[in-house]
Amino acid sequence: SQNQMWGGRFAAGPDAIMEAINASIGFDQRMAAQDIQGSRAHAAMLGAAGIISNSDSEAIREGLHTVLSEIKSGNFPFRVDLEDIHMNVEQRLKEVIGAPAGRLHTGRSRNDQVATDFRLWVRDQTDAAIEGIEALMKAFLQQAKAGADWVMPGFTHLQTAQPVTWGHHMMAYVEMLARDKSRFEDARRRMNESPLGAAALAGTSFPIDRDMTAAALGFDRPAANSLDAVSDRDFALEYLSCASICAMHLSRFAEELVIWSSAQFRFVTLSDRFSTGSSIMPQKKNPDAAELIRAKIGRIFGANVALMMVMKGLPLTYSKDMQEDKEQVFDAADNLMLALAAMSGMVGDMTANQESLKTAAASGFSTATDLADWLVRALGMPFRDAHHVTGSLVAMAEEQGCDLPDLTLAQMQSVHPQITSNVFEVLGVENSVASRLSYGGTAPAQVRSQIARWEAILS
Ligand code: ARG
Repeated sequence: SQNQMWGGRFAAGPDAIMEAINASIGFDQRMAAQDIQGSRAHAAMLGAAGIISNSDSEAIREGLHTVLSEIKSGNFPFRVDLEDIHMNVEQRLKEVIGAPAGRLHTGRSRNDQVATDFRLWVRDQTDAAIEGIEALMKAFLQQAKAGADWVMPGFTHLQTAQPVTWGHHMMAYVEMLARDKSRFEDARRRMNESPLGAAALAGTSFPIDRDMTAAALGFDRPAANSLDAVSDRDFALEYLSCASICAMHLSRFAEELVIWSSAQFRFVTLSDRFSTGSSIMPQKKNPDAAELIRAKIGRIFGANVALMMVMKGLPLTYSKDMQEDKEQVFDAADNLMLALAAMSGMVGDMTANQESLKTAAASGFSTATDLADWLVRALGMPFRDAHHVTGSLVAMAEEQGCDLPDLTLAQMQSVHPQITSNVFEVLGVENSVASRLSYGGTAPAQVRSQIARWEAILS
């Protein structure tokens, strides 16, 4: 049979396959609350502007309330033949309140309706992401406080580079997450314009009040161009790119956790709550949550690319292609929130093994740069020469199978006669980190002042 919403010009109903490819109700029912919120704002405005009677406006708003409770209680009879959430809600409204339901769609189209619903949904998710990121920042901050001066190896190329502090490493993630948070905040400001009232694409001849609906829905203002309002999905793409960059940061720390929790590193012990076992190897405690977080970036960035591809060829304004926006964002949002929550749990629970960190920090000639700097400072040697002399000393230590502080003064002087015993003061890892006092450096004093700064911001 014909579609009850738009079937006026049709003699026959759609093929089953047509219905299957066209319907979005299977996923866009997740926007039910936003759809009803938008419709209630629209109905209130239609009444206030005298476009429909106040009694119809009220009946519509109350009916929508009933429909929402039906959906929330799980008793709503979703129908695929009604395509999407918008028509499912409107049809049910008609069953609940009768004739006045037919006046709700005055001065509105599904094009501005879906753009409004989706913006509200993405805005909620943006707020949720900001909250999730803040929680994770606090977890990293706690870790940093607990081990502000614990020494560990700093890596480049995953090769031992220079000693750093555990607190410094944790605070690096606080900085990354702070940028992620500010990216979401920035995107939220731009997305917060109301498409409602753009109607199909050209606006409407009814004397609607777009400022009123925008304010009712918490938007800063109505979108200024109706063509743009119905065809813009930048807000979803911005959400996805913010989510991608954030997920990339989570993935990098997840990778570090996988490495650090291995028997070869033993830098951290993950809690039982965030680990799994093996069905054959009894000794195993696997960092599965970290691995899955590491993998989530794939689908989140995939969603970003997919929606970019959907949008790039579309002439203005609405095309049905745009219905493909939602599943990508839904999936990305679900997985970003899951990854943030799992990471917060893992970071909150994990124990850094101070002894293993320190032992590792002292191996791999990690204070070679300190030695070279000493040659510059104490002997006035040009840095390039100091680099070369230090390289020879490293080669000597490697040959002896020992670390730099284990070389004797006589051995050192055989490479460069002016070296004095004072050199040994700079070869210890604690001295090394304490000396990195430049702003933003790894010295515990610097790290503590960064911790204090972020604690003030986050409290
Ligand atoms: N389900 C549609 C979507 O998600 C709603 C908008 C339909 N508009 C239209 N003119 N067919 O995009």
